[in-house]
Amino acid sequence: MSKPLRLGVNIDHVATVRNARGGLYPDPVRAAQEALAAGADGITAHLREDRRHISDSDIDRLSALLNAEARPLNLEMAVTQEMLTIALHHRPHAVCLVPEKREERTTEGGLDVVAGHNWVTPFVSRLNEAGSRVSLFIGADPAQIEAAHRTGAAVVELHTGAYCDAVREGRPEEADREMAALAAGAAQAAALGLEVHAGHGIDYDTVTAVAAIPELMELNIGHFLIGEAIFVGLGPSIRRMRDLMDAARAGDGREGEA
Ligand code: PXP
Repeated sequence: MSKPLRLGVNIDHVATVRNARGGLYPDPVRAAQEALAAGADGITAHLREDRRHISDSDIDRLSALLNAEARPLNLEMAVTQEMLTIALHHRPHAVCLVPEKREERTTEGGLDVVAGHNWVTPFVSRLNEAGSRVSLFIGADPAQIEAAHRTGAAVVELHTGAYCDAVREGRPEEADREMAALAAGAAQAAALGLEVHAGHGIDYDTVTAVAAIPELMELNIGHFLIGEAIFVGLGPSIRRMRDLMDAARAGDGREGEA
């Protein structure tokens, strides 16, 4: 029997659409409620330094909702003093430390924990002491995984963006190489005692192979689900992803219901 695979739904891009007009809708907190009702195990939100999508008040309201529902909030944030203060105030269930560059459109690569070990480690310690489960968003690179383990973080989230791009853009050999690296990275991290998550760029075409990696405990998926919701609604968009994940775990390649 394989381990259950949790789905964290990232609701950042509901806020992106709201912020395009600067008003109050669509509301990412309402999206979080719908996502939980549709089978999400938790909600992920990235409070970026430039507040381009999720705002401080979204985090206040998401935190209140998820505490009331006893469901996990996974706060993604850069490794900065400002973000640490916010995380220590809210003490979310989980904090995922990510690299952040102002000019990027999305989180383009993993955290460089090898070079940044002495910078990252005190953040991990403070968050661990506050009771948040710390995850480091890294590439599936043996040296990064080893360094992440040495920070004292309980979790690594492996960056699936390169694999997903290679599949979408029709580069099968590269996709195979990236998938082999993800599978090896997951095995290495699990052998070190780390919990292993994965995310970035996952859609219906890429989720099956990712979800079949047996060591993975959680996937965090956002942009594709919010985009698909325009056509089918948020609940059906998430339910289909959940079905595909479950089918991949069952190892039968069954298609989820549309
Ligand atoms: N995991 C992490 C650490 C991320 O930074 C993101 C993007 O915010 C995701 C998962 C979700 O990626 P996507 O929106 O491409 O599904």
